[in-house]
Amino acid sequence: DNRTYCSIVIFGATGDLANRKLFPSIYSLYKKGKLNENFSVIGVARRELDNEAFRNNVRTSIQESKIELVDNVETFLSHFHYVSFDVTDKQHYQDLNMLLHDLEGQFNIPGNRMFYMAMAPEFFGTIASYLKSEGVTNDQGWNRLIIEKPFGHDLPSAQKLNNDIREAFQEDEIYRIDHYLGKAMVQNIEVIRFANAIFEPLWNNRYISNIQITSSESLGVEDRGGYYDQAGALRDMVQNHMLQMVSLLAMEPPISLTTEEIRSEKIKVLRAIKRMTVDEVDQYFVRGQYDEGNIYGKDVPAYRSENKVDPQSNTETFVAGKLSINNFRWAGVPIYIRTGKRMTEKSTKVVIQFKELPMNLYYKSEDNMHPNLLIIHIQPDEGISIVLNGKKLNIPGETTPVKLDYCNNCLDESNNPEAYEKLLYDAILGDSTNFTHWDEVALSWQFVDTIYKAWENNKVSDFPNYRSGTMGPKVADDLLAEDGFHWWPIL
Ligand code: BG6
Repeated sequence: DNRTYCSIVIFGATGDLANRKLFPSIYSLYKKGKLNENFSVIGVARRELDNEAFRNNVRTSIQESKIELVDNVETFLSHFHYVSFDVTDKQHYQDLNMLLHDLEGQFNIPGNRMFYMAMAPEFFGTIASYLKSEGVTNDQGWNRLIIEKPFGHDLPSAQKLNNDIREAFQEDEIYRIDHYLGKAMVQNIEVIRFANAIFEPLWNNRYISNIQITSSESLGVEDRGGYYDQAGALRDMVQNHMLQMVSLLAMEPPISLTTEEIRSEKIKVLRAIKRMTVDEVDQYFVRGQYDEGNIYGKDVPAYRSENKVDPQSNTETFVAGKLSINNFRWAGVPIYIRTGKRMTEKSTKVVIQFKELPMNLYYKSEDNMHPNLLIIHIQPDEGISIVLNGKKLNIPGETTPVKLDYCNNCLDESNNPEAYEKLLYDAILGDSTNFTHWDEVALSWQFVDTIYKAWENNKVSDFPNYRSGTMGPKVADDLLAEDGFHWWPIL
């Protein structure tokens, strides 16, 4: 497939992301024959390193991933080159351009160039403008920019970053990564909804009582205290991953599966999310910070004792919120989201709770009838479950919940590429459907900025307010209890 003939320039090639995700993904594409011999990878970073040492790093990173190395690994590695780089030095861009030309000759690549920003965001703007001014983006093939989060820390900073990169790249050349959009079951939301006659007719406020999206992590901030203490759970998870899942769950059926149609429906959802005033935030959003506790039998420290975290930090490591979508389909249906670190387990799932039937013939007591649930398991299990009511054996007139499970990754895990592999391949092929458009980024920040404004004005007094290893603070349960609901436990 000659659409994959390209050079990939990775800024931040000695970093964590490149090593943990990008090199193994590129290798996996190569191993599967999706990337043939017509490609090159240029690793760019500050550190002094020769090609030999760089290739060794790449080999090690693949070995440390789950992907098995096969005989062709040396040929694969010969496509990798390294340049030690000062992002503020024009000359280095000119040298990079020369190297790109050489490798394009050597590997017969028609000038297609992918620039992957896998490093500290403060230099994204500088890099983009030099890539253009020094002619690195000025070639015959396509130019694409892949850009990692954080995309700004609020709307104004995101706007500035966007203006900077737009000087050198058009919107349709920019691929903003949200790795949740590469997850198999996040991509499946659309299929579950739009390919199944038993769901889509019910997918609205007549039949759905509420939706709950939980993304819990058992890890703490690990070695990212410096970044995280400035960011917090709302910026780190809600602005991007959680709101993306909301928009996929709530969007109208697109008129076709093209990038433009899907994006435009997602954008409409983000526009329809009811905005709060700063004074209203506390009614809809709550926050938490983890205390010490015990996870999987291991004692773990409080957030405020983590490395590079301010011992008096007010940063939230947990957020729960209630969203309303103001349109005909969703008016009156709360969408609850929650995410946090150091919770009971690592798990992302969506629970769709259906309304009760108009009349309950089997009513005996409060808990005799279970609402119907559709559960979309995003990770670590991938699949769906449906909770129905069946007859309780030998007891006339009583029901019992029956669960139907479909497990996606139990079938053939080896065929299920990781999120990064899928997204990288999409970007190489020029498919930006599973990347975030600027309008999505802007609308998400706008929503989240109001919450931060409220929280800044109104400092917390009860942090830490949840023990590590629990499902978060009590206020998160109260949020649903007020509406007569509760978070569905891990079913
Ligand atoms: C990242 C956040 O975007 O997503 C991390 O910065 C978080 O803090 C991670 O741990 C979660 O991703 P996943 O794929 O492990 O659910």
